[in-house]
Amino acid sequence: MNTTLITGASSGIGEVFARKLAARGRNVLLVARSEDKLITLCNELGRSNSIRAQYIALDLSKPESPARLFAEATKRGLVVDLLINNAGFGSMGEFSTLDLARELNMIDLNVKALVELTHRFLAPMLERKQGAIINVASTAGFQPVPFMATYAATKAFVLSFSEALWEENRPYGIKVMALCPGVTDTNFFEAARGRKPPARVAQTPEDVVDAALRGLSRGKSHVISGWTNFLMVESERLAPRSLITRVAGRMMRSQQEK
Ligand SMILES: NC(=O)c1ccc[n+]([C@@H]2O[C@H](COP(=O)([O-])OP(=O)(O)OC[C@H]3O[C@@H](n4cnc5c(N)ncnc54)[C@H](OP(=O)(O)O)[C@@H]3O)[C@@H](O)[C@H]2O)c1
Repeated sequence: MNTTLITGASSGIGEVFARKLAARGRNVLLVARSEDKLITLCNELGRSNSIRAQYIALDLSKPESPARLFAEATKRGLVVDLLINNAGFGSMGEFSTLDLARELNMIDLNVKALVELTHRFLAPMLERKQGAIINVASTAGFQPVPFMATYAATKAFVLSFSEALWEENRPYGIKVMALCPGVTDTNFFEAARGRKPPARVAQTPEDVVDAALRGLSRGKSHVISGWTNFLMVESERLAPRSLITRVAGRMMRSQQEK
């Protein structure tokens, strides 16, 4: 059964991916830690669309989880033809003061789990010569972000990794795309234990997902959702990296102090 696998589907951007793809008639396999939220969402999606909505409750930052997820999807006979690696979190503050275990856990989820899931699910896609992968990066992946140092570095990894795989897999008909949202109105800032930016600068997760699905259908290597975010990223290209980093540092510092 052809299925879209979405990690981090219990809220925010992942939940909206699930809703929009189910509405387009796609079967979904949803993954996150919050089993109660996944059960409610699957029941709702299954009822209101003629699709099969299933879930697996997993902490993907645990070393054994990506392999367990692949084994369980295979056992259920699911053909994952769209993988959306969306689960992720951030942290905010001066790196030296942040909890080291949490920073390392972030790398395990944002980077390690994403690489392993991509590797495991890409192999059968290549055999079938059909499939697509969306890896959720961030506009933070285009530049260093002081006071979100580890997070921005994980997203720089996701962006670079995904663009490289886009090119490697183009000849085989497999699409790989990095999705780079800017500030989006989700639980992200609560989870990051940071101050939420003003609502006026935030996109809705619906707009982010629409941009992603448009970009995927056009075979893009990456999508920056929203014109403001696009112009911000593009305008930084010619400036010295040290300047960009200092400006970002000043903005983040003043946000922390508010
Ligand atoms: N919001 C923004 O401003 C923004 C901007 C750029 C990029 N992004 C990226 O967008 C992606 C989605 O974030 P969001 O904004 O939608 O935030 P969110 O509402 O906090 O969603 C995060 C999702 O990841 C899941 N998750 C967290 N830790 C997990 C773990 N250890 N194992 C499995 N699932 C886990 C959460 O579910 P459980 O808690 O139930 O596990 C939740 O479903 C992330 O990769 C984030 O970095 C967000």
